[in-house]
Amino acid sequence: MTETAIAFAPGRVNLIGEHTDYNQGLALPFAIREGVTVRAQATGNAHVTVIARDLDAEDSFPLRAPDRTRGWRGFARGIVTELQAQGHNLVGAELEISGTVPPGSGLSSSAALEVALCLALLAVAGLSEPDRIDLAALCSKVENDWVGAQTGLLDQIASLRGEANCALRIDFRDRSVDPVPLDLGDYALVTLDSGERHANAGPSRGRDGPEEPGYNQRRSECARACEALGVASLREADLAQARKLPEPLARRVKHVITENERVERTVSALAAGDLDRVGELLDASHASLRDDYEISTPAVERAVARLRDAGALGARIVGGGFGGNVLGLLPPGATPPPEAISVIPSPGAHLVG
Ligand code: GLA
Repeated sequence: MTETAIAFAPGRVNLIGEHTDYNQGLALPFAIREGVTVRAQATGNAHVTVIARDLDAEDSFPLRAPDRTRGWRGFARGIVTELQAQGHNLVGAELEISGTVPPGSGLSSSAALEVALCLALLAVAGLSEPDRIDLAALCSKVENDWVGAQTGLLDQIASLRGEANCALRIDFRDRSVDPVPLDLGDYALVTLDSGERHANAGPSRGRDGPEEPGYNQRRSECARACEALGVASLREADLAQARKLPEPLARRVKHVITENERVERTVSALAAGDLDRVGELLDASHASLRDDYEISTPAVERAVARLRDAGALGARIVGGGFGGNVLGLLPPGATPPPEAISVIPSPGAHLVG
C-alpha cells in the first residue's frame, strides 16, 4: 500500500472503424492528450469515497459490497467490485476525479474514467497491473453491467495502449493491437463539437425524430442480423447475403463490412503517405454512418459541413454517434473553425509522479 497514487488515462479519437468493435471487426483509434486524472489516497478504512470535481458531486460506499446505482456513480462502484472479483485486494481510499474530456463529447470520457480508476486503485493498494487487454475487458464489463451502455472494447484499448504519434490498428477478433505511424507532417487532425450531447446508455435523438433508438439499439440490430445470417459475428458476414436481409438490417451490415475494408485501406494509405486518400476514406465512412448506420443528426451534419467549408480533405462523426464531436483532416494552410481542437496521437494511460 502507498499513501497516494495518481493515474491519468486519455480519451481517444477513432480515425476510422466505427461500430465495428462489437462486431469483431477492425478500428484505427488513437489516444489524445485530453483525459481523466484520478488521485487516490489510502484511508485505512473499508470505505471508498469518490469526489467528482467537475460535477461538484460525491459518492461513498463500502469497499467490499457497494450497491448498484446508475449514472456516474456506477463507474467507481463497478470498477471497485469487478477488480476485487478478479482477486485484486484493494484498500479503502478517497478518489478525486478531474478531467479535460467533456462527457458526451464522443471522445471517450467514460473509458478514460474507468481506466484511470483502475490504475489508481491498483497502485494505491500496491498491486501490480494486470495485462492491459484484460483490464480493457474489465472496464468494458463495468460499462455494460454497471452503467448500462452495451459498448465494445474500442475506447478502453485505445486509452490503455495508446502510443505517441501512432494510431492503433485493433483487430477485435483476436484483440491484437498494431501501432500504425500517424505521420501528419503539416496536415492536422481536428475535432469540432456538434454541440449535441449523446449518452450511449439510453435512447438518443436521431436525425428524423425525437426518439430514434440509440447505441444499444444498433447493437441489438447487429445481433439480429447475425442470427438471420447464421454467423457468430458480422466479421464473417458476406455482403451478397446481407443484401437479402430485411431493412434496416441490410444497411447496418453493409456499413460494418465496408467500414472494415475502409480501415485496411486507411492503413495502406498512411503507409504510402497518401493523406488525400485518408481524407476520402473519412468522407466515405461518414456517408456510411449517416446513410446506412443512421447515427448522424442535423447538428452533426452542420459540424461536418463547417469542417469541409474550412477545406477539410475529409470529415466524419466519431464515436457512438447521435451527437458529440466530428473529426476533420485539414491540409497545410487551411484555417480550422475557431472552436476546433487539434488532436495529437498521445501515449496511453499511466501513473503520474
Ligand atoms: C462508442 C463505444 C465503442 C464503439 C464506438 C463506435 O465509443 O464506446 O465501444 O462501439 O462507440 O465505434
